[in-house]
Amino acid sequence: MVDTRTFLGSLELSNPVIPASGTFGFGLEMAEIYDLDILGSISIKGTTSEPRFGNPTPRIAECCGGLINSVGLQNPGIDAVISEELPALSKVFHKKVIANISGFSVDEYAHCCSLVDSVDQVGIIEVNVSCPNVHNGGMAFGTDPEAAAAVTRAVKAVTTKPVYIKLSPNVTDIVSIAKACEEAGADGLTLINTMLGMRIDIRRRRPVIANRMGGFSGRAIFPVALRMVYQVSHACSIPVIGCGGVASAADVIEMMMAGASAVQVGAENLRNPFACKEIVEALPVEMEKLGIESLRDIIGIVG
Ligand code: SIN
Repeated sequence: MVDTRTFLGSLELSNPVIPASGTFGFGLEMAEIYDLDILGSISIKGTTSEPRFGNPTPRIAECCGGLINSVGLQNPGIDAVISEELPALSKVFHKKVIANISGFSVDEYAHCCSLVDSVDQVGIIEVNVSCPNVHNGGMAFGTDPEAAAAVTRAVKAVTTKPVYIKLSPNVTDIVSIAKACEEAGADGLTLINTMLGMRIDIRRRRPVIANRMGGFSGRAIFPVALRMVYQVSHACSIPVIGCGGVASAADVIEMMMAGASAVQVGAENLRNPFACKEIVEALPVEMEKLGIESLRDIIGIVG
């Protein structure tokens, strides 16, 4: 009997598999197709202070090995998330959730995190400084060490919950940004968010996506995500959640060998709604095959 448990700081997960923010909504639709309690945790859709309709359509472009999205942080706003979405999720998922918070100013991040601080169901706050689909916010905070540190400090000042900063791959030196967040008090890091990409409709001679560019995710970005998880987890002492192109139990193991303490599954949920369930079920089988007794033994094993 293998041991799939893992820890994010003091939070114990029965397994490392977590649906990534934005690919699982607030969980309710997915609860209709399988028992969500098999998951390690769930990262809910990124939430802002006010409700947002999101970007104009089309927002999705299919690509080889993945897709580009430009959703634009569509969400019902923090008050509705706390009063409606999280209570509804608590009826179908009985573990701690990860609240993904987005913003357009340092004050907005802090405001949303201060509200989420009192919600017992939230085990981790994931601060999204890496959305590539909005102007004057999101990724603007995650591509500069000073700005990422400023958000981290502001959020840490208003919550006692563990704060994980979700980093962007659209940078030349992710380690410097990760270290700036760690020094500013982050309890952990999630990486990576999507890679800025673009497609052109050659018959119409215009971008496929109304917002021109969007975030590329899916299997094709797995080696980039793995490389960044490896670099950051070996340079920082706080836990890392690996994310980007994960689509199988073997990918989860590979991410953990690179240094991840837990793993998020994103675009694969859109291709196959049963992806997380299938990965959770395949994980012990894959561990047996590889002679892994406990997942905790392999975290960062590749030096
Ligand atoms: C979006 O809503 O545009 C996607 C969120 C993200 O990439 O952080």
